[in-house]
Amino acid sequence: MREIKDMSILVTGGGSGIGEGCARWLCERGARVTISGRRADKVRAVAESIGPHCRAVVGDVTVAADREAMLAAAVEHGQGRLEGLVNNAGNMYRQAVTDYEEGFLKEAFSTNVIAPMLLSSLAVPYLEKTSGAILFMGSIHTRRAYPGATPYATTKAAVEGLARVMAAELGRRQVRVGCILPGAVNTEINVRAGLFTQEQSNARYDSLAKDHALGRIGTSQEIAEGVEYLLRAEWVTGVALEIDGGLGLGVSNF
Ligand SMILES: NC(=O)c1ccc[n+]([C@@H]2O[C@H](COP(=O)([O-])OP(=O)(O)OC[C@H]3O[C@@H](n4cnc5c(N)ncnc54)[C@H](OP(=O)(O)O)[C@@H]3O)[C@@H](O)[C@H]2O)c1
Repeated sequence: MREIKDMSILVTGGGSGIGEGCARWLCERGARVTISGRRADKVRAVAESIGPHCRAVVGDVTVAADREAMLAAAVEHGQGRLEGLVNNAGNMYRQAVTDYEEGFLKEAFSTNVIAPMLLSSLAVPYLEKTSGAILFMGSIHTRRAYPGATPYATTKAAVEGLARVMAAELGRRQVRVGCILPGAVNTEINVRAGLFTQEQSNARYDSLAKDHALGRIGTSQEIAEGVEYLLRAEWVTGVALEIDGGLGLGVSNF
């Protein structure tokens, strides 16, 4: 396993939730982490609270110039290097099958699939110099089928498939690729999507605990631990790592 200390890592969507948890965990271990997000106040506050190991860059992953700026900021913060790209930024997209709207579906794929594909493409020249890694944030939505969530679940199925093929293609360049499939972690994702109030969202996460074999939802840190593993593990590529407390097993034990 290579050392995480001094690795230069770009985490998109690092201003909240799982991305913030990854930034905190990786910086605590000595990595130089650059986080991005559209809300300047969020990313800047997280970077400031972490300290000099973390740098914020404001931007939208669906905008080409912003992707370039994110990468440039990460390479600069990493003193000319990039060892890891964590494609974490993403949104929840729910719509009933009978209500599909083309624009909504295109937005879901633009943010959750196409933007991370294009950012990964930009990052390859840097990652091949460092034998680095590209990670995608998938979801346990590809193991458990939730009615109403087809737009979101299909974007997550796309990145899971993408990670395998990208791993096959980039292996010769010594760039590893992986996908993390988190179970439920209480973040702002459903509130930001306008699906729930904060109280409803908390109640929803509480109710999901019993569907996890281990009887509880997870934490951003527990996802970050898996991110760290995949960034460090030098003979692991093309995997989909379920970090889900057993949600994907389909039990209802508690
Ligand atoms: N929470 C869960 O239970 C769970 C489970 C499985 C998978 N996931 C996945 O984990 C990832 C992180 O989600 P989370 O739960 O931590 O939710 P979150 O707190 O809402 O984090 C998502 C972050 O992505 C950023 N973002 C969204 N669209 C963006 C864009 N176009 N450009 C740049 N940044 C963008 C958001 O910041 P701005 O709005 O400021 O841009 C936000 O900080 C997502 O890919 C999600 O699908 C979450």
